[in-house]
Parts: sequence; structure tokens; C-alpha cells
Amino acid sequence: MNIKISPSILASDYANLETELKRICNSDLIHIDVMDGHFVPNITIGAPVIKALKRVCDIPFDVHLMISNPIDYVEDFAAAGADIICFHTESSSDTQKTIEKILSLGKKAALAVKPKTEIDAVIPFLDKLSMVLVMTVEPGFGGQSFMESVMPKIEKIREINKDIDIEVDGGINEETIKIAAKAGANVFVAGSAVFRCDEPNEMINKLRENAKI
Ligand code: DX5
Ligand code: ZN
Repeated sequence: MNIKISPSILASDYANLETELKRICNSDLIHIDVMDGHFVPNITIGAPVIKALKRVCDIPFDVHLMISNPIDYVEDFAAAGADIICFHTESSSDTQKTIEKILSLGKKAALAVKPKTEIDAVIPFLDKLSMVLVMTVEPGFGGQSFMESVMPKIEKIREINKDIDIEVDGGINEETIKIAAKAGANVFVAGSAVFRCDEPNEMINKLRENAKI
């Protein structure tokens, strides 16, 4: 499997985003957490900021929508420069229609599940998806502890589909990445682990190395 490291800018210094993106130029993707204060109890950034970041960064944008009505906004995020648009199966938008809309905009579609959601919710859509995101913390905040209990969900998807990207998000560090990789994940979000160290690019390389199983 192609291992990809996707640092979450949620843990970066929002006052210096361009500089922060330069500190992670070894990464494969840039993970951008969009929160609306309804789907999760926190508000972050939206399409205008993503549009501005696109001007200063060539690495593909992995946009994680933690919002109640993703179908109403996918057009904005596509126009802003999102490359992968990921939304939650627990959102109020119709899953099939939202995936179709993302694909019609020429973007990759991904579907996310919270820790308590059964993975069966994504199975009917696998053939249309580029990626499944299995949350390893409750969405909303960075810096939480990795939940090993969700690993069977990753194993189940990997058993059904050997090629699809499986992303894990939450509490990924040099140690927990090995557990997620062993379960079958190949795309790894890391916020605190990457940005809370002096050499983020070295940490990205270390994470990539540790994900090789
Ligand atoms: C949480 C976000 C994550 C978060 C991960 O809702 O989806 O992407 O930034 O942060 P860490 O790596 O610090 O757990
Ligand atoms: Zn995320």
C-alpha cells in the first residue's frame, strides 16, 4: 500500500499558516479540518482560508468536513482547491447524492465515520470512494488519545477492499501509527505529533518509516 502522511494544520500556528506549510513540505497531503460548531462543538476555518492556502502550497489538500450539511458546501470547497473532499456518514446530507456531487466536481470523495459508528455504513459506497476515514478520536479537537478499539473497523474495510485508501485521524504518533498500519490503514493524519516538534519534516519521515509493516 502507498503510505501517505497527512499533517493536520489544526495543530499549527494559524497566525503563520504559510510558514507552517513550509515546515511540512515532506508531507504527501495537507489535512484541513473544517468544523461548523454544529456537527462538532468547535469552529475552525472555511473555504476562503483554503483558497488562500492553495496559492502558497502545491501539496494536495485533504479536506475533512465536520459539518452538518456537507452537500450545501462541497461546491465552495471544490472551487477553493480541495483535492479530496471527506464528509461524515453521520451528517444530515444524503450520502449517495453528496458523493455524486463531489465526483461531478472532479474531486476525490471520502467518507468518514466517528468512533461509535458501525463501519457497515460506508460499505455500500466503497466503489465510488477514493478513501474511507476511520476516526480514532471523537471529532472536534486535536490532542486527544488514540482509540485502539476501532481497529477492527479498519481490518474489515481492508479485507473487503485491498486498494482503497484507509485514513486514520486522531492521536497518531510514532507508536500508534504502527498499530493503525498493522490493522490496514495507509493514510495517516497527525496534528500534534507533527506540529508540536522542532523538526516537523523529520517527524513526517519518521512516521512514514514506522508505518512500513
Ligand atoms: C479532530 C481532527 C483531527 C485532529 C487530529 O477532530 O479531525 O484531524 O486535528 O489531531 P491530533 O493528531 O493532535 O490528534
Ligand atoms: Zn481531521
